Amino acid sequence: MRTPIIAGNWKMNKTLPESVAFVEELAKALAPYSTVERVVAPTFVSLAAVSSVLANTEIAVSSQNVHWEDSGAYTSEVAPVMIQDLVEYAIIGHSECRAYLNETDEKVNKKAKAALAHGIKPIIAVGESLEQNEAGETTSFVGGQVRAALDGIPAEDMPKVVIAYEPIWAIGTGKSASGEIAQNIIGGTIRSVLIDLYGDAVAQQVRIQYGGSVKPNNMEEYMSQPDVDGALVGGASLKVDAFTDLVRIAAEVKGS
Ligand code: 13P
Repeated sequence: MRTPIIAGNWKMNKTLPESVAFVEELAKALAPYSTVERVVAPTFVSLAAVSSVLANTEIAVSSQNVHWEDSGAYTSEVAPVMIQDLVEYAIIGHSECRAYLNETDEKVNKKAKAALAHGIKPIIAVGESLEQNEAGETTSFVGGQVRAALDGIPAEDMPKVVIAYEPIWAIGTGKSASGEIAQNIIGGTIRSVLIDLYGDAVAQQVRIQYGGSVKPNNMEEYMSQPDVDGALVGGASLKVDAFTDLVRIAAEVKGS
């Protein structure tokens, strides 16, 4: 049985004081839902403070990115060793990083390996564009992204890896994929790739989230799908009430 995991990706939102005030309130609201793994991903600026506020709670912290080197001439980047004591997770390969920061499959793979080497669990995001979707390329493209991201990652590390399927056309657009589409890609495509790479026993342990316009009013539809193990949430993670509703629904549907 896979523990559901709901992660809030704040993207470029919330100042340091706003982040601290937010998680102080959020921690109380999310405390009852211990059957669901709850994760927040603030900006790097707020990571240390948020991590300190949440230190004695069950709420985990994630970064929104991480570099693969330990140090060096990489202006603006942050090394795994710098955040390893602050975070449990790192989001890697978000479509916005792939689009705006030239994050290639090769870099995603290097980052995932570096994160694991530093005890950070990667949340690896994959997903197709609208054009690819309309051209019927979703399965081959997303399957390829998963294979590339996991290249060289051994089976024993896979229970620490989370994969997030986020169709680009559904991110921040209000156009969410149906529960059936999410199940087809997550169960049919992504878990099949995992079975092919690692065998069924390992593949069944890996948690796969859906992301893209997840809101309290569609959360039940996603969580009711057998292979959807949680959500990676943008907009709705910025409000205590909405994020708490998502976690509560996940706990009701899959938290036993
Ligand atoms: P929205 O929930 O705002 O569509 O964002 C999804 C996302 O990109 C999470 O990483």
